Amino acid sequence: MPAKTTAQSGVDTGSTQEPLLSVKGVQKIYQVDAGEIEAVRDLTFDLRPGELACLVGPSGSGKTTLLKCIAGLMGATAGEVVLSGKPVNGPPKEMAVVFQEYGRSLFPWMSVRDNVELPLKNAKVAKAERNRLVDEALEAVGLDHVPRSYPWQLSGGMQQRVAIARAVAYQPKVLLMDEPFAAVDAQTRADLEDLIRDVWERLGITILFVTHDIDESVYLGERVIILSSSPTVIQEDIQIDLPDERDQLTTRSSARFTELRGHVYEQIQIAKHNTGASAPSNAAGGSPSTVAREEAE
Ligand SMILES: Nc1ncnc2c1ncn2[C@@H]1O[C@H](COP(=O)(O)OP(=O)(O)OP(=O)(O)O)[C@@H](O)[C@H]1O
Ligand SMILES: [Mg+2]
Repeated sequence: MPAKTTAQSGVDTGSTQEPLLSVKGVQKIYQVDAGEIEAVRDLTFDLRPGELACLVGPSGSGKTTLLKCIAGLMGATAGEVVLSGKPVNGPPKEMAVVFQEYGRSLFPWMSVRDNVELPLKNAKVAKAERNRLVDEALEAVGLDHVPRSYPWQLSGGMQQRVAIARAVAYQPKVLLMDEPFAAVDAQTRADLEDLIRDVWERLGITILFVTHDIDESVYLGERVIILSSSPTVIQEDIQIDLPDERDQLTTRSSARFTELRGHVYEQIQIAKHNTGASAPSNAAGGSPSTVAREEAE
């Protein structure tokens, strides 16, 4: 069975639901001393409420640039990002971002609990409600036993859990994650992947998850958006038709998983040679099954 794809347009996700987030013709050109760098050429896609989409693309294809534009941390050169019908012109309250470098995103002088509580304090959420949300988030990430520890007393994987708890406690409508597990070991990474799916299922958050890891994108996502090399367009937009119940062993050893990861791998190879040009998709299913845990770079 071929993958359900929407090459290039990236808009039709097969749903009639109103999008929560729309990326419309976003282009980003950086001005540098030597001239201009067109990092992102033309990206258009929608996320519907509650969707978990993964974004993969070669290194330097503008994934972080795009996330910064979506998060309102940087203006696009052209096009716009719309959240709940309103254009994004600065960091929207309804969004949270988890970056790769957890070490730099937590305050070392604050306890785990205080780190998670901080954005809620800033948002002037009442004390009782703050306590409830922090307790719930720490429990969701399995850190309810260390609320008084400091980040530097925790392992890397635990610190990343704190960063995830902080984002989750804030109850964002949209959670953006930029390669959040790149710096942790394989076992911790697998645990954190399951944690994200668990949190997503329990809380119904909309997630856009950037990763280099092809297997990770297929395992996590309901959908995988593949980017071309810079200047970036959408190479392909695939629905991941794996069952909702996923586990590291059964899902990753299923024939469909192998087919899908092979297809994404193939598209990434095409994407590496494809800089903003038209990139027709071919059918999934006939892809090599010998691809190990591949990286998109
Ligand atoms: N602040 C900046 N000023 C100038 N050019 C930049 C800036 N940030 C990124 N770029 C350029 O834009 C392009 C895309 O970079 P970006 O970091 O968005 O890619 P990426 O897909 O996130 O890469 P990686 O997978 O390595 O994280 C690159 O050519 C990069 O050099
Ligand atoms: Mg990046």
